Amino acid sequence: MRTTVAAAPAGWRMRPRTRKGVLVVHIVAAGAWIGLDVMLGVLVFTAMFTGDRATASLGYQALPLLLWPIIAAAVVCLASGVVLGLGTHHGLLRYWWVAVKLALNLLLTALVVLLLRPGLYEAAEYGRRLAVGPATADLGDLVFPPIVSSTALVVATVLSVYKPWGQVGGSAAERA
Ligand code: HEM
Repeated sequence: MRTTVAAAPAGWRMRPRTRKGVLVVHIVAAGAWIGLDVMLGVLVFTAMFTGDRATASLGYQALPLLLWPIIAAAVVCLASGVVLGLGTHHGLLRYWWVAVKLALNLLLTALVVLLLRPGLYEAAEYGRRLAVGPATADLGDLVFPPIVSSTALVVATVLSVYKPWGQVGGSAAERA
């Protein structure tokens, strides 16, 4: 017997118009999140590799501006994704492509709050020191968040469109 974990009971299905509205919110939040990661990458790489101290200083000081927009996009993407999962036949843990996206979204959001947030404030502080004179800091790890996050979000987008791997707990024949 196949178990379908957290699939939407028939009574919980969203009406088509509601589903489309939530899907628009979901896609816009996911797109915004990717765009913000690209902005983060542009600022980080410019600040790190420019030869101009004033530009580097401004770039580092601007980084915390992206923190709350990234958190907001991640939370809206997560919340709308959960509503879409629960309110449609997709379920939350019924299909691998949804379950993996849920795990990615939770992991990325946790990394933003736990690792990126202190890193951005540290970089901004370094930017303020750079504004008044030469300074040094070990901020090499800052290159990873934009690369890792945007790569994971592109993977999530590909999963959303191709919907691979079938059902969680499904047979190999079903997955093929
Ligand atoms: C990790 C970041 C995420 C990105 C980049 C993302 C991206 C997308 C995109 C582009 C679509 C539209 C696919 C299409 O219509 O062909 C989609 C649909 C969907 N997503 Fe996400 N998503 C993410 C997170 C989540 C999460 C966390 C969940 C649920 C826990 C989720 C559940 C769904 C579901 C169920 C659909 C299909 C909606 C429908 O057609 O009714 N997504 N997602």
